Amino acid sequence: MFTATTSLYCIFGKPVSHSMSPLVHNMLFNQLGIDAVYLAFEIDDMKNGVESIRSLGIKGASITIPFKEEILEHLDSIDEMALEIGAVNTVLNRDGYLVGCNTDCSGAIEPLKETTGSVAGKHVCIIGAGGAARAVAFGMKKEGCRITIVNRSKNRGEELANLVNGRFLTLSSFNDLTDLSNNIDIIINTTSVGMTPDIDKSPVNPSILNEKMTVMDIVYNPLKTRLLKNAENAGCKTVDGLAMFIHQGAAQFELFTGITPSHNLMREAILKKLSCKK
Ligand code: ATR
Repeated sequence: MFTATTSLYCIFGKPVSHSMSPLVHNMLFNQLGIDAVYLAFEIDDMKNGVESIRSLGIKGASITIPFKEEILEHLDSIDEMALEIGAVNTVLNRDGYLVGCNTDCSGAIEPLKETTGSVAGKHVCIIGAGGAARAVAFGMKKEGCRITIVNRSKNRGEELANLVNGRFLTLSSFNDLTDLSNNIDIIINTTSVGMTPDIDKSPVNPSILNEKMTVMDIVYNPLKTRLLKNAENAGCKTVDGLAMFIHQGAAQFELFTGITPSHNLMREAILKKLSCKK
C-alpha cells in the first residue's frame, strides 16, 4: 500500500508504453518490501522532466530513447563512464543533487563475459552506430577489444569507429566478408533488425557465422531472434537480449536502492509478461 512517504522512481522517454522497466522495478520493490513505486512518464521535453525530478523529489529515474544524450546538460554531475559514452540512462537524486550514470555499458559487457570469459584482445563487430551501439562500443574499448563498427549508413558508423579507435565497415561489405570471417570473435547486434514483427530478418549473413564466434543480440522480443537461431545452427555461443536488459536494470536497481536484485526473478517476470503478450 502506498502512503505519504512512499518513494517515487520513474522512467522518462518517448515512447515508453512498451517499457518492461516498471514491471521489473515494482516487482522487486514488492518482493523486497521496499516502500516505493516506479512509474512511466512519456514526455516531450527533458528539461521539464529534470525539473520534475527536482520539484517532486523523485528519488531516481531511468532515461530512455530519445533523451539519453540531451539530459546531460540538465544534470548537476555525470559519472566518468556516462561522460565518456556521452549518454545517461540512470539519474540519482542525492538530496536535490542530480547525478547521471550509465548502466547500459556494463549491462552489455557482463553477460558477454559470463559466456566468453575475458574479452580483452578479442575482435568484436558491433552492428549499428546509435545510442545502444555507443554504450557497447565504449565498454568494449575499455575492456581492450579490437572493434569494428558495422553500420548501414557510413557517416554515423565512421564517427563512432573513430571515437573508439576502431575500423568501419558498411553492413553490405561486412556481409560479403566470408573469407575474413575467421578473424571475428564476437558479433553484437545493436539495431532493431529482427524485432517483432520482422522476426525473419537478420542483419548478418549466416555464411559469416562459425563455431568459434559468440553472437549477442540486444533485441529481446522475440527472445530467440533469427540472428541467434542462425548463430546456434552455426555452432556459435549466443547471448540473448534479455541478458543485457536484465543486467542494466539490475545495476540501475542497485544504484537506486543499494540492493543487488535476483537476475532470475527479473528474467522470470519478463518472460511471463512476454508470453502473455503472444
Ligand atoms: P538506439 O539509440 O536504440 O541504438 P538509434 O540511435 O535510432 O537507436 O540507432 C539505430 C541503429 O540501428 C542505427 O545504427 C541504424 O543505422 P543507420 O545509422 O544507418 O540509420 C540501425 N538500423 C536501424 N534500422 C536498420 C535496418 N533496417 N537495417 C540496418 N540498420 C538499421
